[in-house]
Order: sequence, then structure tokens, then C-alpha cells
Amino acid sequence: MPLILAIESSCDETAVALVRGEEGERAVVLASEISSQIELHREHGGVVPELASRNHSLHLRGLVEKALADAGVSMSEIDAFAATTGPGLASSLLIGSTAAKAMACACDKPFLGINHLEGHLLSPFIELTAVPPHLALIVSGGHTLLLDVAGPGDYRKLGGTRDDAAGEAFDKVGKMLGLPYPGGPEIEKTARGGNPAAYDFPRSMLHDPHLDFSFSGLKTAVLYTLQREHGKVSVPNLSASFQQAVIEILIGKTLRAAGQSGRKTIALSGGVSLNRALRDAFSIACNRAGLALATAAPDFCTDNAAMIGFAALLRHLHGGSSPLGEDIHPNLPLA
Ligand code: KG4
Ligand code: ZN
Repeated sequence: MPLILAIESSCDETAVALVRGEEGERAVVLASEISSQIELHREHGGVVPELASRNHSLHLRGLVEKALADAGVSMSEIDAFAATTGPGLASSLLIGSTAAKAMACACDKPFLGINHLEGHLLSPFIELTAVPPHLALIVSGGHTLLLDVAGPGDYRKLGGTRDDAAGEAFDKVGKMLGLPYPGGPEIEKTARGGNPAAYDFPRSMLHDPHLDFSFSGLKTAVLYTLQREHGKVSVPNLSASFQQAVIEILIGKTLRAAGQSGRKTIALSGGVSLNRALRDAFSIACNRAGLALATAAPDFCTDNAAMIGFAALLRHLHGGSSPLGEDIHPNLPLA
């Protein structure tokens, strides 16, 4: 059975995974190692690209060795080496892709350059036997994308954000509230004690017929509320109301897209899909609409290399590979 070693280093997580699988059979994640740089970037309130790439190069070798040891396999058993080649921070993408190419070259095995967003998109189906036709919502720190998926590699973009990504809005609002970076998980925690109806924030573009998103008006509305109620604001109420607005926008647009495309399965992926309130609300909405909901396992929602290995495995099983000269693409689109 083909065995893939995959590297993810597009932003602030250094990750290495080993994924094995055969056509029509369950893929197995033999190892999935992650070294998070969140603590490192926290004091700067966001990701510092140069710090990120230096840390990728410091940690990568150790993670490769740990993945091989955990899985009990040797380098010579690997059939292909994969890495994220975009989108992401150029200096970070270069570390992982150069390492994967070097290993592919040394072992005389193919290299596969993988789109980070394809990794997220396929993440709800890791360790399943098939990827069904579906409607995909990718919600991460850098992206908010709705896609029609006919099958692996066959994607059509239906909509995306016109300004901030959903995760970016969580992070910016978290910063305004004085919460630690990244704001998403902190807002989720704070929102648990709050009233989601306390503030009536805008649901921008929710009723427009197109499938694009906008979160900057919502972010500004939170800022104005903070300025107006200086010192008196209830952080739990504000967090819960902001989170509720994001949830309603995401669900409204996704269900509209499902209606238009006729797909019967919705797949949620990306860091923001870890949010429990979002998952629960999606689950209720999909139940009501008679749609199936696929979500990624928590470990595979935020950046990880198992999703890159899974995307690479599907491509490798169909004879795909990338030239060793393939460049990185910081703004690589998915469709
Ligand atoms: O997918 P990801 O790890 O990286 C990108 O490709 O961007 O997503 C990170 C994003 C951050 O914006 C973070 O705040 C958000 O996912 N996030 C959350 C939660 N956990 C992570 N947002 C809302 N609720 C959460 N529980
Ligand atoms: Zn990501």
C-alpha cells in the first residue's frame, strides 16, 4: 500500500504526517506530528513571517524523525513525498517544500506539491473510503470559501469572502477585546457565558443572492460598540453576539449554496470549524434541511500535515506528481 510522507509549513504550524492507503480502501494516518508556534507569535499579537520560517527550519527534521519512529517505518519505505506549496507565507512554504523535494530527490521518489486549501477541503474525509460529491465550506484564518465538489480534484468556487476571512474576524475581534492570540478559541470560551442576542450585529450580505461573504462591517460594528460602551461592555455578551452573527452568515450562505447546487452533503473544514457552537448550529440546520453534514476530526481542523498527506495520497493513487522545479505559490487559488 502506498505510503506518503507529507509536510505542512504554510503558516505558523510545522507539521509532518505519514499517510498510507489504497484505492477504495480506508486511508490510515500512521503519524501526525505538529509543532505549534502559537506561543512564539502570541507576544506579537499575530504571525511574524520571519520567526515562522526560522522555526519551521529548526523543528522540521525532528518532526520527520518522530513521525517515522512513531509509525515504525523507515525512509526507504516511503513511496512519495508531499508538501504544501501554497497558499501561505512564502518564506514558510519554502522550508517545507524544499525539505520534501530534497527527501524525494535523495530517495529517488516522486514529489507532490499540494494546495493547502485542498488539504482542508478533503480533511472531513480522511480515513474514509471515498470522498462523495458535496458542498464544501472552508473556514480558516486566511480563507472563507464555498465550493461545489464533484469529486477529488474537481472543484468549482461558488463564493468567498470579499474582505476578512471568518477566522481573521475572530482574531481581530479577539484583539479588540484584549483576548490572547488567536482570538477564535478565546471568543468561543468567553461566549459560553454570554447572551448571543445581547447585541444586534449586522449579517452583511446574508440576504444578497450571490454566495460571497463580508465580515469587515461586522468587525467595525463590534469596534463601534466597544467605543460607545467604553468600560461598560459585557465581554461574554459581545463575544456571543459576534459569534452568533458569524454563525448565521456562514449557515445562511452555505444552505443557499446547497439549494442551488443540489448537493445533499455539506462538509465543514478549517480552523473555525472547531467552534462547537458553529458545529452544533450547522448540525441542527442540516438536519432540518435534510442534508448530511461531514466535519473534520478536531485534530484535522486546524493546520496539520495529515490532510496534506491525504490529498497527496489521492493524487498519487491516480499517477499524479509534481516537477521538482515546481515553485511555491503564496496566492495559489483552489478553483
Ligand atoms: O485552518 P487554520 O489552522 O489556519 C489557516 O489556514 O488559516 O485556522 C486558524 C483559524 C484562526 O483564525 C483561529 O482563530 C480560528 O481558526 N479558530 C477558531 C477556533 N479555533 C481556531 N475560530 C473560532 N472558534 C474556534 N474554536
Ligand atoms: Zn489552514
